[in-house]
Amino acid sequence: MTLPENIGRVLYTEEQVAARIREVAAEISAKYAGRDLKLIAVLKGSVFFLTALAREITIPLKIDFLAISSFNSTSHGATPGMVRIAKDLDDAIEDQDVLLIEDVVDTGFTTRYLLQTLAGRGPRSLGICTLLDRTVRRIVQVPVDFRCFEIPDRFVVGCGLDYKQLYRNLGCIAVLDPATLESDKQ
Ligand code: IMP
Ligand code: MG
Repeated sequence: MTLPENIGRVLYTEEQVAARIREVAAEISAKYAGRDLKLIAVLKGSVFFLTALAREITIPLKIDFLAISSFNSTSHGATPGMVRIAKDLDDAIEDQDVLLIEDVVDTGFTTRYLLQTLAGRGPRSLGICTLLDRTVRRIVQVPVDFRCFEIPDRFVVGCGLDYKQLYRNLGCIAVLDPATLESDKQ
């Protein structure tokens, strides 16, 4: 696929992403063997990662989705603490082994909110698996159990991550041209 013009550089190609997802899926399959695995993804960004990961996991699993909305969203995600559930899970997670699937853990606020919410529902275990981890921007600590890639402090798109709802369908993970972000702030 030809890259759109405001994509700066490719951080990880589609092939690199697929290969890394296979490795992480193998780790998950081993860790949860014989258990009741449920993958939970947040709409919409994490859906691409969830489906790619789920297809590579070799143990039986179930999936469920929730949607959140953040008030006052900024270019880098939600304003701290200002998140609420806009669409809840379909099913209970009590006594299940739950893995929260994230597109990117950035400041950690969104993930922490989700963890607290899900933990209150009595899962047997609750883990985090993220496609991207940007630890340099972390403000609140969250325990990431599985990560595909650690990324630098640059706004990225592709593999489900968007800029103004665009570019989620890019197969690679790419840095958005900084000029595009800059021109938007004016
Ligand atoms: P956090 O609460 O700061 O960890 O932000 C997490 C959310 O911000 C993610 O689920 C994304 O929706 C969004 N986000 C953070 N960084 C990026 C990025 O580089 N590209 C696209 N969305 C991002
Ligand atoms: Mg987003």
